[in-house]
Amino acid sequence: MKIRLACDRDIDAWMSLVKRVRDVFPGLESDKAMSEHRAAVQRFIQQSPAVCAEEDRRILGALLFSKENSMLCFLAVDPNCRRQHIGRELVSFMLTQMDKVKHITVTTYREGDPNGIAARAFYKSLGFSEGRMTEEFGCLVQEFILKRPVIG
Ligand SMILES: CC(C)(COP(=O)(O)OP(=O)(O)OC[C@H]1O[C@@H](n2cnc3c(N)ncnc32)[C@H](O)[C@@H]1OP(=O)(O)O)[C@@H](O)C(=O)NCCC(=O)NCCS
Repeated sequence: MKIRLACDRDIDAWMSLVKRVRDVFPGLESDKAMSEHRAAVQRFIQQSPAVCAEEDRRILGALLFSKENSMLCFLAVDPNCRRQHIGRELVSFMLTQMDKVKHITVTTYREGDPNGIAARAFYKSLGFSEGRMTEEFGCLVQEFILKRPVIG
């Protein structure tokens, strides 16, 4: 398995993974939303970093982030490949590309939501702490923040 930046030819394999996990993500319910998401992933691949875990042309994990906003925008690992530290490796790769002094934010489900159990435990295990409550696509979510050391 290799962690690397995604490229144009990965889009179909990337979207196969998204199809398998779409139930967990608010805003991916309809076919129209999936088409829009595909276009967004293509934009990320071309303009902003998109990171994947690939094995034999299959995408086992996918991560989108914004360097500009210091934000993790999307992260998913194939349900058959979880707890193998693929998510952790994707985040480590992302950190090598980010500004070293800016805090990094991500939003995920609030405590008590079954969809958030893995993600909340995952972010906490990586040192993220709980931040403000907010809403996304009409869904109640919470920000998690990775505080970076102040240098100098
Ligand atoms: C969250 C997600 C990306 C984690 O990916 P993963 O590759 O399985 O995670 P890792 O194997 O790197 O886990 C690292 C650590 O996180 C914690 N963790 C991960 N999943 C966990 C779970 N289901 N329950 C408890 N702790 C968990 C553990 O501490 C784990 O370390 P350990 O296995 O050595 O104990 C994956 O479960 C997923 O794709 N979920 C659905 C989509 C999602 O929720 N995305 C994030 C929303 S913003």
